[in-house]
Amino acid sequence: MDCKKFTEEQIAHIKETVGDAKAINALSGGVDSSTVTVLGHQALGKQLKTVFVDNDLMREGEPQRIVKIFADMDIPVDLVDARQEFLSALAGLTDPEEKRQAVTDTFYSKVFVRLVKESGAKFLLHGTILTDIEETVAGIKRQHNILAQIGIDTEDAYGYSVIEPLKTLRKDDVREVAKTLGLPAELSQRIPFPGPALATRIVGEVTAEKLETVRTATAIVEEELCDSGAFQYMAVLLTDRATGIRNNKREFGQIIVVRCIESVDARTATVTPLSWDKLNRICQRITKIKGVNRCLYDLTPKPPATIEYV
Ligand code: XMP
Repeated sequence: MDCKKFTEEQIAHIKETVGDAKAINALSGGVDSSTVTVLGHQALGKQLKTVFVDNDLMREGEPQRIVKIFADMDIPVDLVDARQEFLSALAGLTDPEEKRQAVTDTFYSKVFVRLVKESGAKFLLHGTILTDIEETVAGIKRQHNILAQIGIDTEDAYGYSVIEPLKTLRKDDVREVAKTLGLPAELSQRIPFPGPALATRIVGEVTAEKLETVRTATAIVEEELCDSGAFQYMAVLLTDRATGIRNNKREFGQIIVVRCIESVDARTATVTPLSWDKLNRICQRITKIKGVNRCLYDLTPKPPATIEYV
C-alpha cells in the first residue's frame, strides 16, 4: 500500500470532518492509538487533545514512558489517573465479557465522557482497525473499541462522534503507516497489547494484588522474549492453584502461563518453538515471584484458542 498517500488522505479527511471544532483522543501506547495520535496532531495541531488514562491495568512504568516518548515528539499528552475507578468497577467480576464490559463502561461512560466534557471536544479519534471490526461482527469477541460497528450511537450515548482513520487497515499496514509518520521503532514495532490490558491476562477477578503479580511476570516475559521476533508474547495468571514447595514448606501457589505466538494479523496464530533453555530460564524467573510456584507454556494455536485468555 502507498502509506504516504494514505496518511495525506486521512489527514485531509480529519481536517475536513473536524473543521474548527475540538477533538480528543485516548492514547494507550499501542501501535494503533499511537498512529492515530500522530495523524491527529498532524491534521489538527492544538485542536486535538490527547489523553492517556492510567487504568492500573498497564505494564510496569508504561503510562510515564509513553507520555515521555510523545513529549519528545512535541506532542503533549495529559496523564489521567483513573486507577481506583477501574479497580472498583472490576471488583467481584469473573466472567470475561463482564470484565471487558466493565473496562469499556468505566472508560467510555465514566472517565472519557468526563474528559470529553471538560475539553469541549465534539470528535473522538479512535484507532479501530479492520481485524477489530471483523472479529466483533463475527461475534468472536467483543472488542472494547468499536461501539459504532456494534450499533451503539456514540453521539446519543456519549455525546461525541467517532473518527476511525485506520478502520480499513490490518496491523501490518498500521505499522507501515506508523513508520511513515516517523514514530520510533519502539512504538511502530511494538507487540500488540489489548485495550483492556492486563484485565485480559488475569483469569477470574482482577485485584490490585493479582495485577502486581501479572505485571511482574509480564516484565520478565517481555524482557526474555523481546528479541525473539515473535508476533506477541505474554504472561497470564490463572485462578487455579497448585501445590508446591517453598522453603521446605507446602505452598498452594499461583500458576502463570507463558504464551508466545507467530501471526501476521492476529486472525490465526501458531506457537513459537522457543528453545528449552529459554523456557527454563523464564520458568526459573517466573517462579521466583511471590506466591507463584508453577509456570506453564501454552502450546495451543489460534484456532481453537484465541490469543488472549479473557
Ligand atoms: P484474540 O484474543 O481475540 O486477540 O485472539 C487477537 C488480537 O487482538 C488483541 N486484542 C485486543 N486488542 N482491544 C484491543 O485493542 C481488545 O479488547 C482486544 N482483545 C484482544 C490481542 O492481544 C491479539 O493481538
